[in-house]
Amino acid sequence: MCKIIAIANQKGGVAKTTTAINLSASLAHLGRSVLLIDMDPQGNAARGFGIDISLLKNTIHQVLLGEIDINRAIKKTAVLNLEVIPANLKLSSIDIEIIHKDINPFFMLKTALVDLKKQYDYIIIDCPPSLGLLNLNALVAADRVIIPVQCEYFAMEAVAAILGSISNVQREYNPNLEIGGFLLTMFDAKTRLSEEISAQIRGLFKEKTFYTVIPRNVSIPESSALGLPTILYRPTSAGATAYLNLAKEVIDNEEREEETYSR
Ligand SMILES: Nc1ncnc2c1ncn2[C@@H]1O[C@H](COP(=O)(O)OP(=O)(O)OP(=O)(O)O)[C@@H](O)[C@H]1O
Ligand SMILES: [Mg+2]
Repeated sequence: MCKIIAIANQKGGVAKTTTAINLSASLAHLGRSVLLIDMDPQGNAARGFGIDISLLKNTIHQVLLGEIDINRAIKKTAVLNLEVIPANLKLSSIDIEIIHKDINPFFMLKTALVDLKKQYDYIIIDCPPSLGLLNLNALVAADRVIIPVQCEYFAMEAVAAILGSISNVQREYNPNLEIGGFLLTMFDAKTRLSEEISAQIRGLFKEKTFYTVIPRNVSIPESSALGLPTILYRPTSAGATAYLNLAKEVIDNEEREEETYSR
């Protein structure tokens, strides 16, 4: 059954997009069919696959507004089993554009995905660094949310804010939304701060923190600059290996849950 996973944290630069790209590519590498949806006007998720987003006509923007069929916005990538729906800067004005339209503003993405779910094993959503309308649409549409936590200052404040937003969505719009896990990113074993943040997160959310930790690794920004997921650029790098392990953990968690339900 298709699982929709949002990658969210309103704090900027914590590796949401890096995680969305590399988790999607790793799930596809493991034979799952994956759709990556960019919900961030910065458009970096599709750029990470070398797609030029500046002049694209069919993006998530038109899909959310109900102007085009979602299938028209789907683009192939260099990774087998992995497709992407890009975003570009036009998406940033969607909250104003919908004012005079007869659209439920919180359910735009959920509505768009209804017929698409049967085509994929996983739909991964890259969220913008805010708690606004686009982020809300992602949480309303999702089954799970993965929260990347950068091992840096103010990480815990950001976690408190995103948890508040998740409970709000669970209460008001999407009772099925579950926390898929906290993911420690840009971990640097040489710094005490990395160890401290990791210990705090594991102390508070033991069951919900992924065993896999993403290390700081130069192959990750290098691969983004070349428009490739790290698994295609440097398959044996620490970064690619970590994201492959994360994908295995995500699949294992899903399978364990399905077993529990089927008992
Ligand atoms: N494990 C890593 N090692 C080294 N650099 C990394 C790692 N993960 C992410 N980066 C770099 O950190 C920067 C921020 O990452 P990314 O764009 O994925 O964050 P984001 O949370 O999506 O940002 P935004 O909030 O702007 O959407 C990028 O330059 C990325 O290449
Ligand atoms: Mg991003």
